[in-house]
Amino acid sequence: MKICTTRKSLQGYLEQLKQDGKTIGFVPTLGALHQGHLSLIALAQQNTDVVACSIFVNPTQFNDPKDLEKYPRPIASDIEKLEHANCDVLFNPDVSEMYAGNEQWHLEIGELEHLLEGKFRPGHYQGVTQVVYKLFDIVKPDIAFFGQKDYQQFLIIQKMVGLLHLPVKLMMCPILRDADGLAMSSRNIHLSAEERQHALILSKALNWLKQNFDRNQIPSLKNECEAMISAEPGVELEYFEITDGDNLHTADSHTKKIVALVAAKVGKTRLIDNVIISWQLSVGS
Ligand code: PAJ
Repeated sequence: MKICTTRKSLQGYLEQLKQDGKTIGFVPTLGALHQGHLSLIALAQQNTDVVACSIFVNPTQFNDPKDLEKYPRPIASDIEKLEHANCDVLFNPDVSEMYAGNEQWHLEIGELEHLLEGKFRPGHYQGVTQVVYKLFDIVKPDIAFFGQKDYQQFLIIQKMVGLLHLPVKLMMCPILRDADGLAMSSRNIHLSAEERQHALILSKALNWLKQNFDRNQIPSLKNECEAMISAEPGVELEYFEITDGDNLHTADSHTKKIVALVAAKVGKTRLIDNVIISWQLSVGS
């Protein structure tokens, strides 16, 4: 695997491949790679000729400085995992390679920025769009791959691509879970064995909702899920919402594309998860 730490070296490497007619798949990450990240690499390999992954702990998207400081950075084992996954190129820049200094960035994303995650992590999506814009500009991928795990992030990047007419296709990839149901996340390593058991209530509640969706009205279902999670010791619920998957507004009985999303703190670790309840069916299917 080719490893580039500067934009110039990455662009030089990709330029030749593009001239040879190869399509470029791109998987941006913060590192501390797990099977979820690697499933994105695998999907990229199935859909494009050359796969680039980036590992960059982007300071502008962390609204909590402690979270940024303690974010895991196991670069040697990340490189090993990418080598093993046959990733073609890793972009692993320093902060100074990505940011000139006190840069200003503001993208008018609209209300999506301030709902759910946006409420609890003010400024987060400005930082995400800032870095993803820069990364797209450097890599110029044909297709970029993002996880459903960060569902709102996907909607926001989709919105940015539309607003700025960026020439990239986006693919949403399914959530990978551990055998016990916990959605894989780089932050799971901060959970003690006991916290991990309590954390399972998030996927259990989402799963219960999916199984029981037809049995009750949306507001009652939401209440039941909230009660389930709040009753779990050591778990502090931030939000549980049953939404329209296009705009994250509260769903009602007419909503076709329903996505339920949850965020909670388990001890000091903040976790998010979601489930797609129903997806709009095309006519005739
Ligand atoms: P990070 O949290 O490292 O996630 C990188 C990608 O992996 C995201 O698209 C995320 O949705 C996906 N992912 C995380 N957990 C997953 C799981 N269990 N199953 C499948 N995919 C999973 O998201 C970011 O980084 C950053 O905000 C980034 C887009 C890189 C911008 O800095």
